[in-house]
Amino acid sequence: MSKKFDIAVVGATGAVGETIISILEQRNFPINNLYPLASSKSAGMKIQCQGKTWTVQDLDTFDFTKAQIGLFSAGGSISEKYAPRAAEAGCIVVDNTAHFRRDEDIPLVVPEVNAHAIAGYTKRNIIANPNCSTIQMLVALKPIYDAVGIERINVATYQAVSGTGKAAITELTEQTAKLLNGQDVENEVYPKQIAFNVIPHIDVFQDNGYTKEEMKMVWETKKIFEDDNILVNPTAVRVPVIYGHSEAVHIETKKKITASEAREILSKASGVTVMDDRKDGGYATPFEEATNKDDTFVSRIREDITHERGLNMWVVSDNIRKGAALNTIQIAEILIEKYL
Ligand code: A2P
Repeated sequence: MSKKFDIAVVGATGAVGETIISILEQRNFPINNLYPLASSKSAGMKIQCQGKTWTVQDLDTFDFTKAQIGLFSAGGSISEKYAPRAAEAGCIVVDNTAHFRRDEDIPLVVPEVNAHAIAGYTKRNIIANPNCSTIQMLVALKPIYDAVGIERINVATYQAVSGTGKAAITELTEQTAKLLNGQDVENEVYPKQIAFNVIPHIDVFQDNGYTKEEMKMVWETKKIFEDDNILVNPTAVRVPVIYGHSEAVHIETKKKITASEAREILSKASGVTVMDDRKDGGYATPFEEATNKDDTFVSRIREDITHERGLNMWVVSDNIRKGAALNTIQIAEILIEKYL
């Protein structure tokens, strides 16, 4: 009989945690015991996975020696406190928050891009999952990076509210319903109204005028590509979409690549679906194509008319799935297959 593992899911009742549980089921992850963990207010809730019922437990009193792998998606401050506790108890943590991503002794992994880095988990028993916007961008760019090199990335994101969590989904849907009924709305999760609007601000402002979400794309791209010279110039924007981040990505490559060469390379790449018919509807959108799909979609591939080595593309992916839950589980799958 093949080996099975005891898995803790931290933040099991949240937007990402619920998707982690459903993907564990869909991919038939070899689970012995599942420990869904959340705050004390959710303790006692029942969760179904792989034909069994599991009871949500209070994270604060959970004994991590019971779990071999912990999938953390309950926010940075929760990971700061509990991930080292789990790691010391022998539970290998795959962390979805930004908390450990920049630590040199913690691998930051997108399986299609740098699966080899997982080997470094032994240093602290923690592996970090990158930011959702970074993941889908690098899945799409890695094949081109390998083929011709990339000097510079200019990217503007169009990010769904689910990335902020369940409360943000509620804010968007409630504001929309109220506005359509002529009622006033309040902004609680976001600093401006998100319904029928776009907000050029994600995460906190930094001293250089960029937001932290934008700087994550800079820091994480360098770390994952193991390339300190790659230039990344991002603008991160929240849009009134529930699931699926989109990105307008403009790259300057080291050697010239044509749009048709790029399309050919990307169509063979793992984790990528090219959807690029130059006609009405021949491109991917977050709602109609990306939601609930594993792949990252690449559309609108075209040469930059203003730059000799420039290439433009539109990159769309399910932020909760590939941008968080799926990437986490892919890391755990490689971990158990190669290292445990
Ligand atoms: P709970 O539902 O009990 O509050 P989201 O990203 O959708 O907002 O979800 C956040 C997840 O993190 C939820 O599962 C939530 O559990 C969990 N969480 C938030 N705060 C804590 C905490 N202090 N201890 C344990 N889990 C927490």
